[in-house]
Amino acid sequence: MNATNLLIASDHAGFDLKENIKSYLDQIGRTVEDLGTHTLDSCDYPLKAQELCHKVLQTDCPGILICGTGQGMAMSANRIPGIRAALCVNEFMARAARAHNKANVLCLGSRVLGTELARSIVLAFLTTDFEGQRHQRRIDQMETLKP
Ligand code: RB5
Repeated sequence: MNATNLLIASDHAGFDLKENIKSYLDQIGRTVEDLGTHTLDSCDYPLKAQELCHKVLQTDCPGILICGTGQGMAMSANRIPGIRAALCVNEFMARAARAHNKANVLCLGSRVLGTELARSIVLAFLTTDFEGQRHQRRIDQMETLKP
């Protein structure tokens, strides 16, 4: 059985925060699959976002994407149909992204957030459920918007 319940990936700018968040996830008993990057060598965030998002859609596990600002990851992830990626800078945004927007990917900026705040945002994201009802109608509308 695949016990992974969370996916994580970063570019080089997000590598250190990714490692920190992985330690935190281990502490709180979450099993995470790390899709890289595995070094500080420069790499391209759209490709990491694409890889993680495809796996989120295949497995239904939520994902965490980290780059310098979180913006490139969020922009890239949201190009993929079925992905609702939320760039969050505080716990309130993370809770709302889950409760109202049914976010399946959390994006974090390593050059924006301290590690304790980043950990709090991750916890808020992982412990908040989608509220459904009127929010599901809006998700359905979002998914069928014409380009
Ligand atoms: C890398 O220098 C940086 O551009 C990237 O991590 C990210 O912040 C892009 O949105």
